[in-house]
Order: sequence, then C-alpha cells, then structure tokens
Amino acid sequence: MYRRCQHSAEGHYRDHQLSRIARNAFGYTHRSPAPAFDNLREASYVTQPLSVGHMAASATRDMTEGWAPAQRGLSSFVAHTAMLVAAERLADARHSQPVLRDPLLEKMLEHESDAQAAVETCVNNWERQKHEDGLEHVAPFTGVRMRFGDGEVMRYLTATPGHLQMVILGAGLDTRAWRLDLSERVSVYEVDQPDMSAAKGHCLRAGGAQTTRAQAGSCSFPLKCGSWTSVAADLTQDWASALHDKGFDKGLPTLWIAEGLFYYLEMDVCARLLQGMAALAAPGSALIMTHLSWAFYKASQEALQDPNVGDGAKKWFASWKSWLPEEPSVYFETNGWRMQSLSMISEAFTTYGVSQSKDMEKMLKPFTSGPGAPDYCCVSATLQQGSQGAPRCTS
Ligand SMILES: C[S@@+](CC[C@H](N)C(=O)[O-])C[C@H]1O[C@@H](n2cnc3c(N)ncnc32)[C@H](O)[C@@H]1O
Repeated sequence: MYRRCQHSAEGHYRDHQLSRIARNAFGYTHRSPAPAFDNLREASYVTQPLSVGHMAASATRDMTEGWAPAQRGLSSFVAHTAMLVAAERLADARHSQPVLRDPLLEKMLEHESDAQAAVETCVNNWERQKHEDGLEHVAPFTGVRMRFGDGEVMRYLTATPGHLQMVILGAGLDTRAWRLDLSERVSVYEVDQPDMSAAKGHCLRAGGAQTTRAQAGSCSFPLKCGSWTSVAADLTQDWASALHDKGFDKGLPTLWIAEGLFYYLEMDVCARLLQGMAALAAPGSALIMTHLSWAFYKASQEALQDPNVGDGAKKWFASWKSWLPEEPSVYFETNGWRMQSLSMISEAFTTYGVSQSKDMEKMLKPFTSGPGAPDYCCVSATLQQGSQGAPRCTS
C-alpha cells in the first residue's frame, strides 16, 4: 500500500490549475489562507496589505554561514534551521509592517549573537532584493507560513469545544503558546530533538517567558494557554512514549502541527509519523502541516550540482529528504488522515498582499523547464473515521 505513495518522478503538481481541478475531483477544498479572526489580526498582524515579497534570505541562505556548529549545543544543521527561520521572522518583525509580530521571539534571541548576525544578514539580503527586483518590502516565507498556520489554529479552536491538546512537532522556536490567545482549555506540547529543546528552554528563560503555573504573574510573557510542556524526543524514534510520559491524553481531541518539518525526514519516516499521530488522535483531532511540492524538491536536488548555486542554499537543499506525494489526498488517507485543504504558499502571499521575491525562482529555473511549478504546500487534514489506533498503512 505504501508503494502507492512513492510516486513516479513525473506528474507531480503539473500545474496549479490542473491540481486545483484534481483537488476538487478528490473532494477537498482550496482554502483561503486569510485568517478569519479580527482579534488575531489586531494582536499580531498588520491590517493593511503589504506591498511586496519574500524569500531572499531563503534563497541565498548565506545567513547560515555565521552559525558555529555547536551554537547553543545544537549538534545538527537541521536543529539550526529552527534558529535560522526564527531569525528570518525576527528580521521581518523589525520591519514597520511585518507579516508577523513576535515580541517574545525578539527577547528570546536578544542576547544570541549568532542569531543577531543572521538577522542582519537577512535584512541585508532583503535590501539587495529590494534594489534588484524593485521591491518595497521583502518578508520571509517562514513568517507567511506561520501566519497561515495561526489562522488554521484559530479556526480549529473555534470549531472544537472543550479541553483539547495542541502538539507541535519540530516546534523549534514557535511562540504560539505565548503569542496567540489559545485559552485555558488548551494544553500545548512541543516536541523537538533534545538539543533543540534544551536550547529553546534557555531562550525562553532569557526572554522572560512563563513556562509553569508556579510562575504565574512573575514573567514578562505569560502563557496564553492552559499549560506548556516541552517533550525532548527524536521523531524518527519512539516519540509517542515520550509524549505520553509528559502527560499527553490520548482521549482528548488534538491539533497536530508540523511546519517546516516533514522534508527533513525520509519518506518512510513521514508515513510512520502520520500514522503515529493518527494512532494517538481522538475523534475531532486535526492536522496542520507543510511540505515541499515534488517540483520544488526535485529542482532543489538538481540545484545541488549547479556551481552557480551558493553553498548556503545547498546546505538547506542537501538536508531535504522527502516531498508531498502525487495524489496527496490518497497519501493522507492511506496514513490515517482525510485531507481538508491544500494551499500553496505562493497563494498565501497573494492573499496577504505580498509578492514573492524572484531569488528562489531564479535559482531553480534551470531545473524547472517542465510544467510543474516549485512551490511549498500547506495542508490541513482531519482524522479519518475509525483510524485511531489502527493506521491502514505500515511501512
Ligand atoms: C525548519 S525548523 C522549523 C521549526 C518551527 N516549526 C518553525 O516553523 O519555526 C525544523 C525543526 O524540526 C526539528 N526536527 C527535525 N528533525 C527532527 C527529528 N527527527 N525529531 C525531532 N525534531 C526534528 C528541528 O530540530 C527543528 O526544530
């Protein structure tokens, strides 16, 4: 059964138009990325449309160069990516009209010299982009992705009454537990590799974030949820036991979030992860995740051989191991989930009134002569009926 998900090289995301038609045929919808909640907008976002695009830093990625291998004890480049995308968001947050405001993140990274250097590099990249491509305001796709996810989170909370859990896999420096008004009824769990979890703990303390009930009233950034729990675990191993040990309740509806994570895992690990979440998910549970389109993945791997592509970008491309298969709804169904919506990040830019910069496009262009458009997918899914504890696909 899993083989079915392993797709041929051709035929993925042939073009957006076709895939949109296919989506309709498959019975899931295209969802507008606009957050539907005015209070959210007022709290975190700029209300007027931004004029321009993103991704210069994502494209050149020379912000990676300032990072010492053992910075904050982070042993792998993949763990560093959390710091780097946070630096991107921070660079954007300093703009007068950011895609996403994140005062806690600002405090968390205030004394991290490498992070500050990455922010500077990022801003410089964007200044160059603005000059080269005539852009007014460059913002990162990681900020757009997070903002899109915020909308999905609040949509789920509105639709789901009672006590529930939010499990963020590969959480990195996610600050939703302090940034969004999640309410007391939400228990947040963040799963990440032990080195990243330790680094985040340090940054949270440095930033003045409340992490326990006992600290109520004494921190600059109070929790905006019922509880927050860090789970140090490798998602290629037995992460479910670690989650249970920290108090996760299999009987409660859970919103699973996996942003910027899946493509760092092999295809078989991705399938097992989807199945593992489904097996732990009570009725009413849902999933928000992002993944690379096949065209994006394929072009990035071919770019590894191109001497014109910089080392910074190659470092990122080389760490990518998987993509969202052709027939995504079948893929999710096979692994315990029912796809509700699939949006391309480029559409989110349009919805938020920002344009994408041309850097990544220019870099990947030599490898995208076919009709497929490299893009980045944002998926929301609900638990398939009857799939709890019994995923249909083993790999
Ligand atoms: C690009 S960052 C994304 C962080 C965060 N979700 C965000 O959007 O800002 C990828 C994260 O996935 C985590 N990660 C990658 N592989 C992992 C694994 N095998 N187990 C646990 N976490 C993993 C990394 O440590 C890192 O924090």
